[in-house]
Amino acid sequence: MKEMLNVALPKGRLGEKVYAMFARAGFECPSIEENNRKLIFENEEKMVRYFWVKPSDVAIYVERGAADIGVVGKDILLEYQPDIYELLDLDIGKCRMAVAAKADFHDDGMRTLRVATKFANIAKNYYASQGREIDIIHLNGSIEIAPILGLSDVIVDIVETGTTLRENNLVVNETIVPISARLIANKASFKFKSEPIERIANSLAEQKGEAK
Ligand code: PRP
Repeated sequence: MKEMLNVALPKGRLGEKVYAMFARAGFECPSIEENNRKLIFENEEKMVRYFWVKPSDVAIYVERGAADIGVVGKDILLEYQPDIYELLDLDIGKCRMAVAAKADFHDDGMRTLRVATKFANIAKNYYASQGREIDIIHLNGSIEIAPILGLSDVIVDIVETGTTLRENNLVVNETIVPISARLIANKASFKFKSEPIERIANSLAEQKGEAK
């Protein structure tokens, strides 16, 4: 008996875009378009099951095999280094990981830099590569407030349009790394469900080319 392909989608606008790409790849699941609060949808005919999860949790489902494949931001892969295969850069959900601070902040390098972030590992690796000593202040959201209130000197966070920084009078000092959405696969699933996974990866790669 053929098994269902389990797909973890990041809840939100990016996830909807991604589902549309999967549907065009031949894995549609019409019930997902009904606007309700259900989190799991399946199409037995296409042998596919989708579930909406918090974007930062997609890699956990895939690493542990609860999902065979999923779509996740490169930021999450860099931060948590899950043991998965990264199959494809989807070229959507583009943004960058950056260091930002108040416009009048100048790092004289004389004392430990206080860095507020959700991405402690990315920040640690970045500053280690610069040989800069830092003190990480781990926050879970609204990171932009930290330098304004004097909780930190800088922040390491995602910048997409730059609006959040602008509206809080912060400026980008350095870009650490560009970010985009990636198709990932569980390592065992990639072996045992290679046929549908490759079909999806190939179609998404083609769609990416067409969109350009
Ligand atoms: C991210 C990030 C910034 C914002 C940047 O937050 O933390 O706050 O987006 O986007 P912009 O440059 O277009 O203003 P997100 O909305 O992902 O949610 P979060 O509050 O959970 O971090």
